[in-house]
Parts: sequence; structure tokens; C-alpha cells
Amino acid sequence: MSTAKLILEGKEYDFPVLIGSEGELGVDVTGLRARTKAITYDPGYANTGSCKSAVTYIDGEEGILRYRGYPIEEMAESSTFIEVAYLLIYGQLPNLRELEAFQDQLTHHSLIHEDMKKFFEGYPRGAHPMTILSSMVASLEAYYPDAANGEDINLNIIRLLAKAKTIAAFTYKKSIGQPYVYPRNDLSYPADFLHMMFAVPAEPFPISPSLENALNLLLVLHADHEQNCSTSTVRMVGSSQANLFAAISAGISALSGPLHGGANQQVIQMLDMILKDGGNYQKYVDMAKDKKSDFRLMGFGHRVYKNFDPRAKILKKVADRILPEMGIRDPLLELAKHLESAALKDAYFIERKLYPNVDFYSGILYRAMGIPTNMFTVMFALGRLPGWIAHWLEMRNDPTTRIHRPRQIYTGQVKRPFVSVDQR
Ligand code: CMC
Repeated sequence: MSTAKLILEGKEYDFPVLIGSEGELGVDVTGLRARTKAITYDPGYANTGSCKSAVTYIDGEEGILRYRGYPIEEMAESSTFIEVAYLLIYGQLPNLRELEAFQDQLTHHSLIHEDMKKFFEGYPRGAHPMTILSSMVASLEAYYPDAANGEDINLNIIRLLAKAKTIAAFTYKKSIGQPYVYPRNDLSYPADFLHMMFAVPAEPFPISPSLENALNLLLVLHADHEQNCSTSTVRMVGSSQANLFAAISAGISALSGPLHGGANQQVIQMLDMILKDGGNYQKYVDMAKDKKSDFRLMGFGHRVYKNFDPRAKILKKVADRILPEMGIRDPLLELAKHLESAALKDAYFIERKLYPNVDFYSGILYRAMGIPTNMFTVMFALGRLPGWIAHWLEMRNDPTTRIHRPRQIYTGQVKRPFVSVDQR
């Protein structure tokens, strides 16, 4: 076994080196504090491995993403979202019988308790759908309290996956003042979601194969991305043995931020703003470089990818193919392409290895599908659900899991005597 040597205040210490299945190296510092009294300092955890995981592999330098060993390009080409969910959660691709049983379970658990509909009524009309989604998912624990004591874990996983799309669609219906449309058992997962979003009770919504395939692809591409902010949040909350619904609800809240899943909404708002400003994208590329401005090119850059995000490459190609198929000519797509090529030629972006990420083109596809901008991050959450669940399960089944409890370097006042209010 190889070791790493640390010299601290003149004393030498050896630490074991872990080697991942793709050859990645990690220095195991679990004994560091006990042996040296020192801790590691790594704000943003950019160099910290918080766990061992067999779910997803990313090589950010090479632009590689694999779910349980399968390349994202092949999954995007040939798989359904339900297959991917099964793969991520249970570790292998389902055979036909397993797939049918899984699909059947998801279908039969897609209703939410009728009482939960009353919760939607309590939100103001303009409430952000991500706020509603995270609260509704946390509330599932009140209806299925067995999620708290670990019984029927698999049933609760199925419930969560099945009900999340109903909750997401009801959130939209509430926001536009239309009656809720109930799930249908004869439709695929993506088609059922589109039906609940766009049908009205008097009129079914015709779901074209292009639309269903586009949503399937978007869900597949978002299904997991190893230890990102929301997944680490799910693991962090789950490490306290909080129930599944609480951990996933926390993940949804983490995803809502503009630097994470909220970026897909921000990209469209940014492109809209540039278009309204006469389409001068170069002005915005320059603004993103200007350290005095806090403007960033949304949908650009990534903590891990220092090369093309493979998901963005797939989405760009699909947007180019699907928009004409749907009879849509979106000026935002043309603008996005100009913006991308201007940024990729610019020394600032080249030096920092900033490339388009998954959020850069996903919003254009959601728009083409008729999904409103404030629902984009909800779409990301629906796609990411299997990944969050897979990581929660992996964390739970790992005997080495301890409650997550980082340390800090204290920089506050040293000890001083309390001063009573009349003396201050
Ligand atoms: N526009 C302009 N400059 C940027 C951008 C950007 N989008 N992203 C990073 N930079 C600069 C940044 O200012 C810094 O420059 P300097 O070295 O001169 O200080 C350098 O590049 C490194 O950036 P960082 O903020 O230290 O990188 P990070 O790894 O902490 O952050 C990020 C990664 C994704 C939060 C960041 O690139 C960003 O804010 N991008 C825009 C938001 C976005 O698209 N988020 C979606 C991420 S992908 C999907 C997901 O995970 O949800």
C-alpha cells in the first residue's frame, strides 16, 4: 500500500493512499487530528473526498461522465429515465422483468394523498415552484412515517420517485390557477409528467414522441453527478439518520441556488436580457470578465469540468435537431451559440478553462417544450432524484458512515471577560 508523508512542525507522519477503480488518488487523513492535533483546511471542499462511492465517475479534465460504468453518451442515446433510475439506485441495469415491475410500482404509487392538495392552496400565487417542491417532499414524511425508522426503505424510495412528478406538475397547475390533472397509468414517466402539466380535465394533451424523447433525455442527463452541492447535502443531512424525505428535501433546497440547479433559469433570463439589449453578446462576455462587475456568464464554468461538459455537448446537438422538428425557431438558441463561440475564443475563458455546462442549453430545450422558466430547476430536481436516492442509500448502507461534522479554523476573539450592558 502506498503512503503519503506529512512533515508537520518537524515531525513526520505517514498516511495511507487510497486508489479508486479509475486510478484516482486520495490521501486518507482520517487519523490526522488524533495523531497530529491538526486538521485540513479546504474551503468549498474542492480537494476533499467525503466518501467512497460506486455510483458515478467523472473525469473533469477529459470531459468523461459515467453512471455505474456506462458512458453518458450511450445512456443518452439508448436508455429510458426509468432504466437509469434503476441502474443508479440498485447498481445494475434491470432485466425486462425487473424493469416492468419497477415501472409498475412507480405507476401505482404516483397519486399523492388528497389532503396534500390543501397544502398547495396555502402558497401565494407567485411562490417559486422549488420552494413548494422542497416543502412538499419534506411533508411526505408526515404521511409515510415509516421513512423515519428505516422500515420499508424500498417502498419509500418508490413513493418518492413516483410522487415527485405529481407534486411537480401540481405545483405548476396551482401557479396558473388550473385544476390538478391526475396521473395516468398507461403513460411512461416523462409522458405522464407532460400530461399532468399540460392536459386540462376536458381535453387530453397529445404527447408527441419528440416531446417525450426530449424530456426523457433531459432527465437521463441530469440523473447523477457524484458529490455536487445538492448530493453532498443529501448525504450530510442523511448522515444524521434524518429520514429519506428530509434528506431529499434538503437536496432540493441546495439545488435551487443560482450557482447550482438554479443556473438553468438564470441562463434564459440572461439570454433574454441580452436579446432585449440589442443582442450585443460581446458586451456581456466583457462584463463577465470585469472583476468590478458581479455579472457571470450563467451556464458557464464548472468546479469539476475543465473541458467540455459532455452533457452540454449532447444538449447542444439535440437542441439543433429537435427545435426544427418541433417547428420552433428560437432566437435564444442562435444567441447562445454566438455567446458560446465568443467566450470560447476569449483568453479569460480559455485560461480559466470555462466551458458551457449542462445548464447552458437545457433551458432552451425546456422552453421549446413549453415548460415555463420558473419550472426549469424543478425539472433538474426530477432528473436528479435517482442520483440523490442512490447516494442516500449508499451512505446508509456503508458501515463507515459517521455523522458529517467538519471542523473549522477559529478566527474569532480569544477568551475575554463578559461586560455587563451598563459598562459597554
Ligand atoms: N463567468 C465568468 N467568470 C467565471 C465564471 C463565469 N460563469 N465561472 C467562473 N469564473 C471565473 C471566476 O471569477 C474565477 O476567476 P478568478 O480566478 O480570476 O478569480 C475562476 O473563473 C474560477 O471560478 P470559481 O468561482 O472559483 O470556480 P468554482 O469552481 O468555485 O465555481 C461555478 C464553479 C459553476 C459555481 C462557477 O463557474 C459559476 O458561478 N458558474 C455560473 C453558474 C453556473 O452556470 N452554475 C451551474 C453549474 S453546472 C450544473 C450544476 O452543478 O448545477
